[in-house]
Amino acid sequence: MKAFFRYLFILGSISIVLILLWASMDKLVRLSTMSNVSNGHIVQAVDLHYQGHLWLAYFHIIPGLLFLALGAYQLIPYFRVRNYPIHRTVGKIFLLLSLVIFSTAIVLAIIYPFGDWLETITTILFGSFLLFCTYKAYTAARSLQFQAHRNWVTRIYFIAIAVSTIRGMVGLFMATGNYTMQEIFGIAFLLAFALHFFLVELWIKYLAD
Ligand code: HEM
Repeated sequence: MKAFFRYLFILGSISIVLILLWASMDKLVRLSTMSNVSNGHIVQAVDLHYQGHLWLAYFHIIPGLLFLALGAYQLIPYFRVRNYPIHRTVGKIFLLLSLVIFSTAIVLAIIYPFGDWLETITTILFGSFLLFCTYKAYTAARSLQFQAHRNWVTRIYFIAIAVSTIRGMVGLFMATGNYTMQEIFGIAFLLAFALHFFLVELWIKYLAD
């Protein structure tokens, strides 16, 4: 039974990461071609909303893409044990990227939220928690507490990819109710982050090696 839930969790996480990789690359293309009216893309309100602060969006999304790729590499046991010096170097880059992504997420949510106050509050709450996890992951590694280090990094990765689940929730709310994207952004943020927080604690307590 434990093996079944482990595979379910791992397969679910891989799907979530792949969707987020695709959505983030698509977003980058949309943002970079937004000013070109002849490109045939339909410019949506959620894209136009970034027009005045594109650099900040790039500074969040590009490190986000690297974070997804490097985090996946770090969490696969085969790569982790194969070459420890690479694990250490990639790990430092991953933690630096985490600092950039979570800080820019908080700035975006405070200064330029697309949704309501709930998006801002949820991002401040989980963004700060993720910054705390980043600090703990680093100090645990420095003091050679490798099990604790692995748990903090697992939390960082799995809670951060909740941004992919947010997209699914937004789609679900919009398909089943008469809501605009702007109205349901905040509640989707809260539900997705709370769900990922709960699931990663279950993984760490009952399913991890
Ligand atoms: C896992 C790495 C991450 C990636 C690849 C990523 C990617 C993105 C993308 C593509 C957008 C543009 C969204 C859109 O309008 O379609 C975005 C915006 C945003 N992200 Fe992230 N993100 C990541 C992590 C996070 C985390 C951990 C948080 C919260 C703690 C966060 C909070 C935000 C916020 C608040 C916005 C602005 C939304 C708005 O316009 O109101 N992101 N991110």
